[in-house]
Amino acid sequence: MAPSPLTASPHLQAHLKALHSQSSVQESGLDWASLPKQCTDAFDDIMRDKFIALDQDKCELIYHVLRSINAKTVVEAGTSFGVSTIYLALAVAQNVARDSQSQAQQGRVIATEKEPSKASIARENWERAGDEIQGVIDLRVGDLRETLEKDLGTVDFLLLDIWTPLALPAVKLVKPYLRPGAVIMADNTLKADVGYEDLLDYLDAPDSGFRRVTLPYTGGLDMIIYQ
Ligand SMILES: C[S@@+](CC[C@H](N)C(=O)[O-])C[C@H]1O[C@@H](n2cnc3c(N)ncnc32)[C@H](O)[C@@H]1O
Repeated sequence: MAPSPLTASPHLQAHLKALHSQSSVQESGLDWASLPKQCTDAFDDIMRDKFIALDQDKCELIYHVLRSINAKTVVEAGTSFGVSTIYLALAVAQNVARDSQSQAQQGRVIATEKEPSKASIARENWERAGDEIQGVIDLRVGDLRETLEKDLGTVDFLLLDIWTPLALPAVKLVKPYLRPGAVIMADNTLKADVGYEDLLDYLDAPDSGFRRVTLPYTGGLDMIIYQ
């Protein structure tokens, strides 16, 4: 078997494995077809104690992309219990450390979560993750349509792991801060293609400044480049 794609301590690897496993068990008990519409109170009530973590293979790919593009400022739309955030923070911290001799800027992962109870569990999960990811996460609790309105800096990467009606608003808020060559990854673009229709139409407009490819991960994972 190939070694783990992550440069991470055995402790952190074990922590991530346990979090993904808890998320999978929880999600296997969910019947998506019978859930209320996204972004309604009824939907949020059901999701308040759920991880809905990004799949491990997708997290690992994203970690690789971040190391490859040397991302130092990352925005995450949808943090939940902070599983994917650990990968983002690990990559950013390692990118900063790699450039430390050239007085690089500080790294930052701007994480967003609407539910305060989920945000506090995310903080506990990051604390347990240990030193490798400390000092880079800027968690903004509240509706991302407000919390992403300011203080983003130049953004290298945006993760869209959010209820689909919020994906386009997130892209519009972050777009003015994207550097040329910045990457956006959007989860479940095949499985949730109807929900993503407005986002995909926006990205595919000839003058949008974006180009995308759908990667064959479960449910579809779009990799979008800002030209
Ligand atoms: C799919 S989950 C994110 C999973 C996370 N990326 C991970 O891998 O662990 C989406 C999260 O977005 C949060 N959310 C929903 N509406 C939001 C909003 N308007 N602003 C910020 N977060 C929101 C939900 O509470 C939920 O926890």
